[in-house]
Amino acid sequence: MRKTILTGDRPTGQLHIGHLFGSLLNRVKFQEEYETYIMIADVQALTDNFNNPQKVRDNVLEVAMDNLAVGIDPQKATIFIQSLIPEIAELTVFYSNLVTISKLQRNPTVKQEIEQKKELFKDSVTFGFLGYPVSQAADITAFDADLVPVGEDQLPMIEQTKDIVRKFNKIYGQTLKEPEALVGGFGRVKGLDGNSKMGKSLNNAIYLADSPEIIENKIRKALTDPDKIKLDDKGNPDVCTVFYYHQMFSGGNLKNIKNECQSGERGCIQCKRELSENIIRFLEPIQKKRKYYQDHPELVDEILKRGTEKAREKSRQVLQRVKKGMKLDYFS
Ligand code: TRP
Repeated sequence: MRKTILTGDRPTGQLHIGHLFGSLLNRVKFQEEYETYIMIADVQALTDNFNNPQKVRDNVLEVAMDNLAVGIDPQKATIFIQSLIPEIAELTVFYSNLVTISKLQRNPTVKQEIEQKKELFKDSVTFGFLGYPVSQAADITAFDADLVPVGEDQLPMIEQTKDIVRKFNKIYGQTLKEPEALVGGFGRVKGLDGNSKMGKSLNNAIYLADSPEIIENKIRKALTDPDKIKLDDKGNPDVCTVFYYHQMFSGGNLKNIKNECQSGERGCIQCKRELSENIIRFLEPIQKKRKYYQDHPELVDEILKRGTEKAREKSRQVLQRVKKGMKLDYFS
């Protein structure tokens, strides 16, 4: 039997090259081999955007188009909308008995996010936000996922899911599948400012849909070795974000770039120009495909509608098993 992959994105903005190298390229590769489900996590997005429903609504389509543009094939993979799968909400309620508040409060990702969202949560976090790892366990188990391709920051979520699965199976009998995380080849992608994470809210991202002008502008401002001031100063590629991105986009020429920077034969302006060109070239086919879907939003709707129907069918079966285990299978 084919193994199953489930992964998802919060529709809070367009996807960027951090997503591309952290997770999207893996998805495209694995759709050939695995039963693949890609969830647009609108319910999860609302946990920290409950006061901005229009933003979430608008970005559902953007995220769907980003996935299609990088090469997710709707004939092979199932793209669906989380809020249209009530089974996930039901599972979340059942799992919530298997997780303690203090365990959720200790979750490193949740902790960090609460810290970043001080503005929203002031001195007290919502029930919904604190519980989103439980709902994510429901997302994953509702499809009997074997593998979950995610960015490194999501590892605590998969640990939490495993914990719930083990507890569930121990109490209610062997019912749920235990998933494994699959972190992308590049792990976490740094931001343009050198920050350890490229993020929508950090204002340091290159989006898949960025125009050539925007890309050139952003790369022009990217952080380089602060001690390399003149063209012929010897540079240190290890502290340069431009070199860091060259590693992703300039494969064949990498050794030259490194040597020329270190020996002072290469200036940062030229180096940035080359990087911009390579990124623009890399994104060109992706953007072409994206434009096609932008011009045909009815096609994207149709893909989401069909995907959601298929996802619902699968999650219905899992929920039935869960209810049986929990002695909630009345009248059947
Ligand atoms: N939490 C993930 C993120 O912020 C999105 C997500 C929601 C997800 N449900 C998921 C990822 C299930 C993998 C599996 O990126």
